[in-house]
Amino acid sequence: MRRVSTAAAPKDPIVLFLAWFAEAEASEPTLPDAASLATVGGDGMPANRMVLVKRVSADGFEFHTNYRSRKGRELTANPRAALAYHWKSLGRSIRVEGAVSKLDAAASDAYWLSRPAGSRLSARASQQSEPVASRATLERMHREEGARLGESESARPEHWGGYLLAPSRVEFWTHRDDRLHERLEFRRATASGPWTRRLLQP
Ligand SMILES: Cc1cc2nc3c(=O)[nH]c(=O)nc-3n(C[C@H](O)[C@H](O)[C@H](O)COP(=O)(O)O)c2cc1C
Repeated sequence: MRRVSTAAAPKDPIVLFLAWFAEAEASEPTLPDAASLATVGGDGMPANRMVLVKRVSADGFEFHTNYRSRKGRELTANPRAALAYHWKSLGRSIRVEGAVSKLDAAASDAYWLSRPAGSRLSARASQQSEPVASRATLERMHREEGARLGESESARPEHWGGYLLAPSRVEFWTHRDDRLHERLEFRRATASGPWTRRLLQP
């Protein structure tokens, strides 16, 4: 496969992202859409965790989670975040930074309904990021939630939905020999402004 190089990179980082992502889908053994999501809490402490970035478009990067989770609380206090992908099979990494907002209810509903019923039930039964006494307690909560909901299981709870990260900085990193790696950075001052590009030293 001919790989899309940064030397002939398009002017729009989303176009380049989608080209690289298609290559990652073809070559990564699992989860090319997995990325580390970093948020910053009210005390200034950063935290990161993996998420699945389910859709990337001209508007930005979409992921779905529990709005009351740690990341949800941190995004309420400070609606900015960073993503980092690493595609080992390609020797590539992408970093994304920008402002975060909630997706509208229709978009969150559409993704919620696309998930398997078992995943929906687990998302409903889990108070994500809260402590639980034991694995047995968690499994009992899961069973009880399933019995309580019955046929209404498919409704999306209000505290679960999507976020959109609108990028203001995107960096494309390519492995090169002798650690003389290639870094191509795109930046823009406003969400709809023009992108500027520059190379960064590795
Ligand atoms: C590969 C992978 C993908 C994941 N995708 C998601 C996701 O899309 N949404 C989510 O809420 N948690 C996802 N998780 C779990 C999170 O990493 C994390 O444990 C959870 O969201 C709680 O994070 P928080 O306490 O910082 O809010 C994923 C974990 C892994 C390892």
